[in-house]
Amino acid sequence: MNKLKAIQPIKKGLSGEILIPGDKSVSHRSVMFSGLCDREVKITNFLHAADCMSTVNCMRALGVSVKELDENTLIVKGNGLDGLKEPAGIIDAGNSGTTLRLMMGILSGQKFLTTFIGDASLSRRPMGRVINPLSQMGANIVGRQNNKYLPITVIPAKENLHGISYKMPMASAQVKSAILLAGMNADGETTVTEPYTSRDHTERMLTGFGVKLKKSGTSITISKVDKMTPPAEIHVPGDISSAAFWLVAASIIEGSDVILKDVGINETRTGIIDVLKDMGADIQLLNVRDEVEPLADIRVRYAKLHGTTFGADIMPRLIDEIPIIAVAAMFAEGTTKITGAGELRVKETDRLQVITDEFNKVCPCIEGLEDGMIITGGQKNNLKFARCNSHDDHRIAMALAILGAAGVGVEIENSECVNISYPTFYEILTHFE
Ligand code: S3P
Repeated sequence: MNKLKAIQPIKKGLSGEILIPGDKSVSHRSVMFSGLCDREVKITNFLHAADCMSTVNCMRALGVSVKELDENTLIVKGNGLDGLKEPAGIIDAGNSGTTLRLMMGILSGQKFLTTFIGDASLSRRPMGRVINPLSQMGANIVGRQNNKYLPITVIPAKENLHGISYKMPMASAQVKSAILLAGMNADGETTVTEPYTSRDHTERMLTGFGVKLKKSGTSITISKVDKMTPPAEIHVPGDISSAAFWLVAASIIEGSDVILKDVGINETRTGIIDVLKDMGADIQLLNVRDEVEPLADIRVRYAKLHGTTFGADIMPRLIDEIPIIAVAAMFAEGTTKITGAGELRVKETDRLQVITDEFNKVCPCIEGLEDGMIITGGQKNNLKFARCNSHDDHRIAMALAILGAAGVGVEIENSECVNISYPTFYEILTHFE
C-alpha cells in the first residue's frame, strides 16, 4: 500500500491536552515477561499498534493466552518459565526489531525450534549483534548470510546455555535485553556491559517480576532464574517517543500551549527533553509520580529555539527522536550539529540518509555526516511545499508531518506506517489544523 497523506499547516498552535498512547518498549516487554509466568497478568494502556501486535502474535504462537479485554487492556496467561511450546508455523515479526531480538534471547535456551521472518525493513536489519553473543552462550541460531539476517531459526542448543561476560560494541537495549533474557536460562552469571546506558525497561520490569539483577556502572549481571512472580497488573506509561512529536510541534508552532498527559519520564528516555530545553524550549513537568516507571504530565509552550550540539553520550537517551529533533533544529536560530548517531543507519530505514534526502526536499538545509548531520536553522520562512516519502519508516512519516504542519504543508508517500507505533497520530494532528 502506498497511501499519500496531505498535511495542512497548523495556524493557531496546539492547545488543550493530548493523551499519549502506551510506551512501545514497555508494551512489548509486558506481554513477553507475563507470558513466562503461570498467573494471569492484566496489562493496561497497552499500545495497540502493529509492532506490539507482532509480539502478541508471537507469544500466542508459543502457547501463551493473550485476551484483549479492549483495545488497550490485555489479560496474559502463560504456562510458567518452561511453559513455552513449539510454534506450529513460522513466526512473522513484521517490522519489529524489539520482538525479534528479545525473543531470540528468550528462545535460545528452549528445547524446540522456532523460525522467524519479517518485513522488508526487518529483513535488512543486522541480527548478528544478537546472534553472536547468544552463540557464545551456547545458543544455536542460524540465519541468512552467515547468521546475520532474517529468516532466522533458533535451534535447540545441544547443552544448557552458559553465562558470559559480554562487552557490547554499541549501546543497544535490544541487544542488552536479548543477552539478559538468555542469561535467565543459562548456568552461572551473565554480565553485559554497554558503552553508554541504553533504556532500562528490561531491568526495571524484570525486577518487578521478582528477578534479581546486579547493576554496576554500565554493567548488568543476571543469574539463572527458576520462577518469575508477576505483578497482578502492569500499567504501561505513555510513550515519550510518541510525545516527542508534540513536544517539538508545540515548541515551534506559535501560539501553542499544550499538556501531554501520562508520559513516561524514565531518565534513560528523556534525552529529548534535555536537548529541547538546551535549545530554549519551554517545557515543564507537572504531576510527577513514581511507579515502576516514573510518569508526568508535560506542559509545553511555543518558544524561540536556538541551535545546539550533542553527540554519542546522550544518543541512547534519544535514539528514536533524531528525526523530530532535526525538525526542531530547522526552526531554531543558528546551527545544530549532531554526531555519534551512526546507529541510525540500522533503524527501520537508514534514518541519517532518509532525513537528509526527504527533509531537504522541504528546505535544503541539512548536510549529512557519516555519523550525524549539520542543520542550518532559522528556515521557517524558507520552507516549500513538497511531496516526501516516509520510506515506510513510522518516525520519519511523523517527523515529516510535523515539518509540514509547522511550515507550509507537505504530502507524505507511504504514510500509513505510523500504525507501527502511533495509529491515532494523524487523527490528533488533524484536530489542530
Ligand atoms: C528499543 C530499543 C532501541 C529503540 C527501539 C526500541 C527497545 O533500539 O531504537 O525503538 O524496546 O529495546 P536499540 O536497542 O537497537 O538501540
